[in-house]
Amino acid sequence: MTSVILSSKNPTAVKAEALVVATAQTSDGVAVVSDQLPTDLLTQLESLAPQLGVTGARDEVRKIPAGPKLAVDVLVLTGLGERAEDGTFATETLRRAAGAATRELAGLRSAAIALPASDDDEITAVTEGALLGAYVFNRYRTTGRSTEKEAAKDAAKDARNRKDPVAAIEILTPLHKNAKAKVVAERAQVVAAAVHAARDLVNTAPNELYPATFADAAKAAAKDVRHVKVTVLDDKQLASGGYGGLTAVGQGSARGPRLVKVAYTPAKPNGKVALVGKGITFDSGGISIKPAAGMEAMKSDMAGAAAVLSTVVAAAKLNLPLAITGYLCLAENMPGGNAQRPADVVTIYGGKTVEVLNTDAEGRVVMADGLVSAVEDGHDVVLDIATLTGAQVVALGTRTSAVMGTDTVRDEVKAAADASGELFWPMPLPEELKSNIKSKVADVANSGPRWGGMLNAGLFLQTFVGDHPWAHLDIAGPAFNDGGAHGYTPGGGTGVGVRTLLGFLEGRAAAEKAEK
Ligand code: BES
Ligand code: MN
Ligand code: ZN
Repeated sequence: MTSVILSSKNPTAVKAEALVVATAQTSDGVAVVSDQLPTDLLTQLESLAPQLGVTGARDEVRKIPAGPKLAVDVLVLTGLGERAEDGTFATETLRRAAGAATRELAGLRSAAIALPASDDDEITAVTEGALLGAYVFNRYRTTGRSTEKEAAKDAAKDARNRKDPVAAIEILTPLHKNAKAKVVAERAQVVAAAVHAARDLVNTAPNELYPATFADAAKAAAKDVRHVKVTVLDDKQLASGGYGGLTAVGQGSARGPRLVKVAYTPAKPNGKVALVGKGITFDSGGISIKPAAGMEAMKSDMAGAAAVLSTVVAAAKLNLPLAITGYLCLAENMPGGNAQRPADVVTIYGGKTVEVLNTDAEGRVVMADGLVSAVEDGHDVVLDIATLTGAQVVALGTRTSAVMGTDTVRDEVKAAADASGELFWPMPLPEELKSNIKSKVADVANSGPRWGGMLNAGLFLQTFVGDHPWAHLDIAGPAFNDGGAHGYTPGGGTGVGVRTLLGFLEGRAAAEKAEK
């Protein structure tokens, strides 16, 4: 990952390949947002702006030659839009502008960022945004070099051509020596690394990432992280242990299912939280097969499990005083000769039965095993996160995730999302819709009428947690970006959910501490 340092250098003196400065929209044009650049340079830039097509709008990034007054080659102008009434910019605006800028820096070695960073929240936003925007997934792109010697010789050139992330950034802030600011910047780096790790898993091709290799990835991620232990139940253990949901969904694939538990147990935990993630490494739909168009995006159907793994590891790296267990419900949903059929009845861990009416409603079936297991293990609260329904995307689009569950926990998740800059919206679980998932033969059916599809799925999951404190996060739309990059969000896996889950855990850790 891109390295970060805080420094208080003056933007005119800083030596790097590029300098990032913010622009804003004002009533009479464009303002360059900097109290450190000399006035003559500011005036010059502001009067040049219209000719350069620079408006200061959000998501606008322009690179221009820096000129003789600066010690950098390129000046990068990133737009913040209009100021809020109190004259500041929302932290999420800073996060996006920082990310939109660093995305344009791929292939460079060094950059300095001179965005507003004069308190902890701003430093968090700028650091997170810069790192999240710098993300590049180019594992499958070769350089075309045929020998290692050639590759070594041309490493710098290849980095540029392949557009590797900018190697080092320097964040300019008056607080560079402040101890708290350093902690804040370090936390932001842990958070960004966690989001990157989740994105990498989502972007990994499904012929490489399947339940067994995902389990290996979990072990690798937890290796050398203090107080984290990974245990894996394989297909045989799942079948004999009564995990009928994972077994049924996984049986159509040559690559068997896994239930991976990632347990972080610090010395004196103040509480105990479970995170359950949907990890369908590829969702073909099974026998109720999906149409070919767009099916490739279903490699992202494990984004919930990826978010859970990354979050637990990050929580451990941040030494949160909470015991946290991640449950990764891993299976590949394929239409094989041994695949489950519509009309099958499967017994979930704990004994409840499910009639499978549609094998494409597989997420809730594997999550049922994970949820029962989590409730059984005795946690204060259970959160689950899943790319669960197409109906989520219909209801809220591709940028906003849904949260439903116990009222208080749901509101706690929403507050954590708001604080982290992730878009979540609360959804109801109406009693009245429970009849939608009634089965003629079993305790519950895995699918119902199309209307309210996201809520039907939520109600299905609720059957398996009972009245245990719980929230369900449906990230179907936001987990994978089919379109172009925007702000700090790249195309492909987005890593959505990691920041909200971590924020939720940090909130719990602080609250539990305050109670003692
Ligand atoms: N993985 C899909 C949901 C999904 C859709 C995620 C689009 C991301 C983008 C899930 O397994 C699924 O297929 N759900 C079905 C359920 C239906 C058959 C009841 C759906 O939403 O269509
Ligand atoms: Mn499906
Ligand atoms: Zn699915």
